[in-house]
Amino acid sequence: MSASGGTALGTARGTALGTVLGIETSCDETAAAVVRGGTEIRSSVLSSQVDLHATYGGVVPELAGRAHLEVLTPLVADALTRAGIDQLPLGLDAVAATVGPGLVGSLLVGVSEAKALALAWDVPFVGVNHLEGHLFAALLEHRDVGFPLVVLLVSGGHSLLVSMEGPGRYRKLGATVDDAAGEAFDKVARFLGLGYPGGPAIERAAASGDPEAFRFPRPLLDEGLELSFSGLKTAVVRAVRARPEASDEDVAASFQAAVIEVLVAKVVRAVESVGAAGLCLAGGVAANGALRAAASGAARELGVPVYLPGRAMCTDNAAMIAAAGWWQLEHVGPSSLGVACDPGLSLPFVA
Ligand code: KG4
Ligand code: ZN
Repeated sequence: MSASGGTALGTARGTALGTVLGIETSCDETAAAVVRGGTEIRSSVLSSQVDLHATYGGVVPELAGRAHLEVLTPLVADALTRAGIDQLPLGLDAVAATVGPGLVGSLLVGVSEAKALALAWDVPFVGVNHLEGHLFAALLEHRDVGFPLVVLLVSGGHSLLVSMEGPGRYRKLGATVDDAAGEAFDKVARFLGLGYPGGPAIERAAASGDPEAFRFPRPLLDEGLELSFSGLKTAVVRAVRARPEASDEDVAASFQAAVIEVLVAKVVRAVESVGAAGLCLAGGVAANGALRAAASGAARELGVPVYLPGRAMCTDNAAMIAAAGWWQLEHVGPSSLGVACDPGLSLPFVA
């Protein structure tokens, strides 16, 4: 299959080498990064709130907001120092921050800090869509991506199949009709008492389990490009109640196998229907080793390249926000300091 859009990153990105400070505080990771020219990561640091929320089995929004407030300023200083730009003038070209989607109290912390820094340093502020940030994660590490690219974006809050026709040009192919894939991992892990966050806990347990111990449903497997996970989660709960002696490892492995079979079938269908030049995984669930292996195998069979961001680039980070912010600054322009956080922001799809 050939790339109908060419290897567009070089041209779409232009040649400017602006340096952007990115800030990410949409959920439970506080992150700051300095990225040059949209691809060169000069620094990327993160403070996870996992321990803070683990006691409650999920993210507590009020605690998340307060924790961001406590660590963000020192974290930004750390990102600047690591990038070697802690003396004025800093040589930064913009400050980018996630404006949505996410928890409003958490978003506000990052956006307020980014606007204040942009004002103080007299550089533009760029408000970045968190989901677009996830799409840029793969582009950060792979320079010669051909378009259209089918991206499976699977995180804690979203499950989307997107045809990326180039940076900034997205066509929606499908989405979950109920729970996000990551949410299903988190809920099943919580039900099994495996801890939070659920994805890594399920993956660890699944490693020593039998994926065929249970034949869980594969929702919408043979139908279109929509996804659904809430029925699968309910099936897990029912099956465990019926067979309480079953090992957590077997349940986790069987659940993970069902999710992956559906995700890979959808990705294959999407690549074929779009005539895509490649496929890409993004979002926290894309850190899952079994999903990465299955997607790579499917891409090999389809004869298209697969782009897998490093695991740290799949989960929330600020480098992807700085990269998306840099592209936005170059091609759309800076955001107004009056721009508000939008907890329900969706990807800007082309008609
Ligand atoms: O992208 P992300 O860091 O934050 C959101 O934007 O939501 O994704 C977090 C989600 C959580 O639901 C987490 O359980 C899931 O990604 N996740 C995983 C793995 N690592 C994180 N799911 C499956 N396997 C993993 N290894
Ligand atoms: Zn995310």
